[in-house]
Amino acid sequence: MKIAVLARKGGQYTHTRIRQAAHARGHSIEIVNALRCHLAITDDGLSVHHEGRPMAGFDAVIPLLNPATAEHGMTILRQFEMMGVFSLNRSAGVACARNKLHCLQVLAGNGVAVPATAFAHQRDKAEDMIRLTGGAPTVIKVPEGRQGIGVALADSARSARSVIEAFAAVKQKVMTQEFIAEAGGTDIRVVVIGGKVFAAMKRSGQPGDFRSNLHRGGMPEAVDISTQESAMAIKATQAVGLNVCGVDILRSRRGSLVIEVNSTPGLEGIESVSGKDIAGAIIGFLEAQLRPTSAAAA
Ligand SMILES: Nc1ncnc2c1ncn2[C@@H]1O[C@H](COP(=O)(O)OP(=O)(O)O)[C@@H](O)[C@H]1O
Ligand SMILES: [Mg+2]
Repeated sequence: MKIAVLARKGGQYTHTRIRQAAHARGHSIEIVNALRCHLAITDDGLSVHHEGRPMAGFDAVIPLLNPATAEHGMTILRQFEMMGVFSLNRSAGVACARNKLHCLQVLAGNGVAVPATAFAHQRDKAEDMIRLTGGAPTVIKVPEGRQGIGVALADSARSARSVIEAFAAVKQKVMTQEFIAEAGGTDIRVVVIGGKVFAAMKRSGQPGDFRSNLHRGGMPEAVDISTQESAMAIKATQAVGLNVCGVDILRSRRGSLVIEVNSTPGLEGIESVSGKDIAGAIIGFLEAQLRPTSAAAA
């Protein structure tokens, strides 16, 4: 196979692991900066160009977009899809997962348990957003935040209101969410590949931090998940429409709840604590999707 990775830079652990896995299985792989790609729609058809050269002959594309590359990257990803290149995750699923609010709407609408969440256009709804999500303490989130950066905890309704107002002053929309105190600063990350749970880890935040993200100093450890959590992760993945993703779950008093689905789960941490070759499984999934069926091959 000839694979393109749509990213920004190639040096991160996840990029390196995916490149190694592709090479180990005899494929060619190119990590391209999505921002340096452009596209054309002409009488000759659709094309994507990188550094002045047309990107031709690719069988598969792996989107590893971050906020800086996402908007343009999604346009390039859509172009590849329209050119008939198989995408590890389709653009519609990636777009849904990028926005936590959109994602929670889809999850809840498909019967996946999620924490109480509220969102409004006007800041004068702050009071009601706090009330609807169970009152203080209140989690306040930027819908497109990641790596724990756009997530805050307000201890009182008064501080929640002032945080919402401060975000509104800089024209940043936020959502409020029920605080799952009993999760104790931990969460469960489940990696689903091709409709099956492939690996899981538990993450614990730094002392005093309710966020367990590894980017915020959280520590990963091996974990066993229940059959119900496994089914929940698969259902969440299917609802959002992804082939490969990381589902974040909080263990609450009323059962496990999905807080978000990530279309580009980082592999560092989870590969080491689970002992699983996730990069290899991702390339294996692409091989299975692109392998000619016996009927087509005949
Ligand atoms: N409602 C909540 N109650 C308790 N902890 C939460 C809640 N939402 C998020 N967290 C903690 O904050 C972390 C980051 O939140 P998340 O919604 O996953 O955003 P990000 O995209 O930044 O990872 C989670 O992994 C979890 O540890
Ligand atoms: Mg998260």
